Amino acid sequence: MFKINANYLKLPGSYLFSDIAKRVKAFTEENPDKKIIRLGIGDVTLPLAPAVIEALHRATDEMGVKETFKGYSPDLGYEFLRTAIAENDYKTRGVTIAVDEIFISDGAKSDSGNIGDIFDIDNKIAVCDPVYPVYVDSNAMAGRTGEYLPALGKWSNVIYMPCTEETDFAPELPGEEPDIIYLCFPNNPTGSTIKKAELQKWVDYANKTGAVIIYDAAYEAYISEEDVPHSIYECEGAKTCAIELRSFSKNAGFTGTRLAFTVIPKELKSGEVMLNSLWARRHGTKFNGAPYIVQKAGAAVYTQEGRKQTGEQIAYYMNNAKIIREGLTAAGYDVSGGVNAPYIWLKTPGKMTSWEFFDYLLREANVVGTPGSGFGPHGEGYFRLTAFGTYENTLEAIERIKKL
Ligand SMILES: Cc1ncc(COP(=O)(O)O)c(C=O)c1O
Repeated sequence: MFKINANYLKLPGSYLFSDIAKRVKAFTEENPDKKIIRLGIGDVTLPLAPAVIEALHRATDEMGVKETFKGYSPDLGYEFLRTAIAENDYKTRGVTIAVDEIFISDGAKSDSGNIGDIFDIDNKIAVCDPVYPVYVDSNAMAGRTGEYLPALGKWSNVIYMPCTEETDFAPELPGEEPDIIYLCFPNNPTGSTIKKAELQKWVDYANKTGAVIIYDAAYEAYISEEDVPHSIYECEGAKTCAIELRSFSKNAGFTGTRLAFTVIPKELKSGEVMLNSLWARRHGTKFNGAPYIVQKAGAAVYTQEGRKQTGEQIAYYMNNAKIIREGLTAAGYDVSGGVNAPYIWLKTPGKMTSWEFFDYLLREANVVGTPGSGFGPHGEGYFRLTAFGTYENTLEAIERIKKL
């Protein structure tokens, strides 16, 4: 008789965004005349850049011609895209990454969820609190996190690294030694970043203790300040301790088009075993390659036109971030993020819980955000707004909040 993976039964409640959707649906059914503005979920609103669309059209035409038709793409990605990544994302920052250290995929969500496949169950993970939920839930599904403790909103076998106002929403080196450390900068949900010297401390710590860092740099393109690293490999020694995740979702609006990549340097080893080989084996077995037309679209992001156009999209979202940050600050809110990230993290007023503030904002301003407590216990009392809305909606949402 078959047996299910009982780890799934340990997962608490439903996914955060389903809870939000349910509350918004109930509100709109009761108040059909209200215009809701959604600054909750981290999805982009601008259409794909013209250079990307042209590349998609060209590649689609190639697929309709016998001589240029493509079947399965190479497991690890087309060389033209991997070369463009190595040249543009790394070489320009003084980092040498070989083409066979880059693995093309269909998303950083799947990569961050799947990367656990190459690690033993008997590894202790450390995560930021609050955190992008996929890191914890995917480890829970694998049976690595122990038991869920509802009263604490935590797992028994996970090291939580609080990211609070006192720490500038960055984690501190943990007291207990983890085996796998998840870091995400610029951060979702807090919008925080760390300077290169700070990240270097994590790299040194991981090399010293034999831990691996899974570094999610999905929002790297939003960095505006000097001295904030775009890649963990800008730090000395990172190639022996870090895996980096990147995505085209937020830097080029590919949330619905799907393209990402993972970097695993060949120097990253457990004894004599290269993690690069394990991931190549895993990728080759369980993944059949991102579509040719999408990889062509991804390569177009690195052309002169592509860079210019996607750069303008990022500037558009970061202008929204500025409007939110400055508007809320003027209205007396305690706000962080939004400088190197498209997320604004605000303290709920008057000691409201995150969900109380969610309901209040929905009811009184008809604005949807994300309760901080959905990202972990230290997110309680906080709220996330995203800069991914339209300029007009962002402006209107902030005007409405200011009037409360
Ligand atoms: C930190 C972080 N990593 C990864 C992802 C997912 O990226 P992708 O669309 O490439 O799956 C997101 C999306 O919101 C994210 O916030």
